[in-house]
Formats: sequence, C-alpha cells, structure tokens
Amino acid sequence: MTRRAIVRGVGHYLPERVVPNSEFETTLDTTDAWIQSRSGIERRHFAAEGQTTSDLAARAAEAALADSGIDVTAIDALIVATSTADLTFPSAATMVQSEIGMSNGFAFDVQAVCAGFVFALANANALIVSGQVERVLVIGAETFSRLMDWSDRGTCVLFGDGAGALVLEAAEGSGDTTDRGILSSDLHSDGRHRDILYVDGGVSTHTTGHLRMQGKEVFRHAVEKLASTADAALEKIGLNGADVDWIVPHQANLRIIKATAQRMGVPMERVVVTVQDHGNTSAASIPLALSVGKARGQLTEGDLVVVEAIGGGLAWGSVVLRW
Ligand code: UT7
Repeated sequence: MTRRAIVRGVGHYLPERVVPNSEFETTLDTTDAWIQSRSGIERRHFAAEGQTTSDLAARAAEAALADSGIDVTAIDALIVATSTADLTFPSAATMVQSEIGMSNGFAFDVQAVCAGFVFALANANALIVSGQVERVLVIGAETFSRLMDWSDRGTCVLFGDGAGALVLEAAEGSGDTTDRGILSSDLHSDGRHRDILYVDGGVSTHTTGHLRMQGKEVFRHAVEKLASTADAALEKIGLNGADVDWIVPHQANLRIIKATAQRMGVPMERVVVTVQDHGNTSAASIPLALSVGKARGQLTEGDLVVVEAIGGGLAWGSVVLRW
C-alpha cells in the first residue's frame, strides 16, 4: 500500500469588481484588441479597497471545505501560496486560520510567486506522504492589483485578484499510476533570472514597490521551461502527454498556454483556460482554474491532471495528480 494525498474538495472566490480591457483604454495608450491578441485576457477582478488577500483566501477555503464535506476541525495544516500577504507578518495563512475557525494544526505561507501554488501542493503532498498530517488546506490567493504601476501598460493590464483552494486528504493507494491523488512533482528555481520579473520594493528597502517585468524574456523562459517540467514530472512515473486528460496551467498568457500544450502533444480541448476571465492572478490562478474546471464539468474523478507554472525567481514546476 502507498500513502497518497487525494483531492477531496475545491473552491474559489473572486472579488466582485470586474474590470474589462476597455477600462484601460481611457487611461493608457492601449486597446482591448492589443490586450486580447497578445495575452488572451478580456477582463479581470480587482479587490475592493480594504479587501485583503486573506479575505479572498478565507472565502475560497470555506468553499473548498464545503465541497469536501470535511469539517474545519479535521484540518491539520493550512498553506497559503501568496506574494501579496496582508501584512509583513504574521503569515496570510495564520490570518486565514483564525478567519475560518481553525484552532488546531499549523499554518504557513509559501512564496514562489506565480509558481507558488505548485510549490505549496508539492509540499502539502510531502507532509501527507511522510505521515505528518492527514488533511491539508492548500490555498493560492493574491491581490496583485496592489503591486501595479498604473502607468506601465506592459504590466498593469495583465494581472488580477482572486483565490482558489483545495482540500487534500491522506488515503491508501496501490502505488501505481491508477491511484487517485498526487503522483509526481518537479520543482525548479534559478535566481540568476531574478531581474526579469520582480517587485522593486520590500521590507528591507522601505517601500512596497511595483511589479517590473521584461515580458518578452519571461515569455521565452515560460515556453521553454513549462513543457519540460511537465514532461519531467510525467516521465518520473512512466507517463507522457498522451496519458494526460487535462492540463491546468498557470494562466498568464493564452499564447504561452497554447505553446506549452503543443510542445507536450496535448490538444487545446484538454486544457482548462480561464485567463480570459481572470487575467494573471499569480499563485491563485491554478486553484481558480481547477475550481472553475470542475464547475464546468471538465475535470471528473479519475482524470489525469497536470498543473504547471512559472514566475518570478525564476521559479517553476509541475505536479501530476489523478483527480
Ligand atoms: O505570471 C508570471 C509569468 N508572466 C508571464 O508569463 C508573462 C510573459 N510575457 C507575456 O505574456 C508577453 O510578453 C506580454 C503580454 C507581456 C507582451 O507581449 P509581447 O508580444 O511580448 O509584446 P512586447 O512586450 O514585445 O511588446 C510589443 C509592443 C511594444 O511596442 P514596440 O516596442 O514594438 O513599439 C510595446 O511597447 O507592444 C507594446 N505594448 C503595448 N501596446 C499596447 C506593450 N504593452 C502594451 C499595451 N497596449 N498594453
């Protein structure tokens, strides 16, 4: 028998305010047509004034718990993947913990920017497989609107706010790839590329800062690295693109999503795409897409799912799971 971390529930939350591309046409030298053709984005949600990352995360966590039928008192660990925590400390995770009434177990944040949810999922799996916990809430939540330079048309039209969450639970499997749950992961980072996507501020530089990105450079790395990490995670368990039912990619750019699927030999009919509605929500984008994909009826029990993401660091990786 092999211990597996299987998905028991999924949920998401999006702030009420929806901002269509046309809203940027009034303040910037840009067009809806440019944004759609270069990124696939049509609209995004922005958090209200005073609405924080932990607020979004708590709503997504409650939705995932409701979907799982598991009571919050049975959760042993809570991980929030975010680069936009409410405060420098404590962690967004401890704020969510108190917000949802979880008084036992432990909670911590993971900061790997857009790859944060993949890193959190791989670490949640390690906690479960090693026998340290039985049930983990894994959340991706961001308020990237707070990091935008509203005069930089090359970045501010691309990002959005939101949160998504999964409930993972330990279960015994047979040890082969027919098992439900997380089957494999592949994580990387390379700090030599830290200056192509970063925020030019932080606690020890006295400012919050704004997101800065060399879009073309990040694009080039994304297309090359995403398919290779996904292929590597599949190869570790003797599978390949032909075995994949769904790719649920980080939602940064439709052109990157298409290029990655093509490199993996997976047709677009088997890719969950939400970038048109959410923009790039960084660490929240994959759990948001998992939740929306399930609601659409795209993901069903037993499907082989690959999640993959890349972001600032650079940090990138993938997880293969059977839904
Ligand atoms: O989540 C973390 C990972 N992030 C990503 O994966 C993002 C990766 N990068 C991208 O998605 C794309 O590079 C962008 C969508 C950011 C940009 O697309 P691009 O095809 O690489 O365009 P570009 O940056 O090369 O810009 C092309 C032109 C430039 O004008 P010139 O120099 O050719 O005259 C830009 O100044 O488009 C201009 N441009 C815009 N025009 C209208 C840049 N932003 C805009 C804009 N509206 N919003």
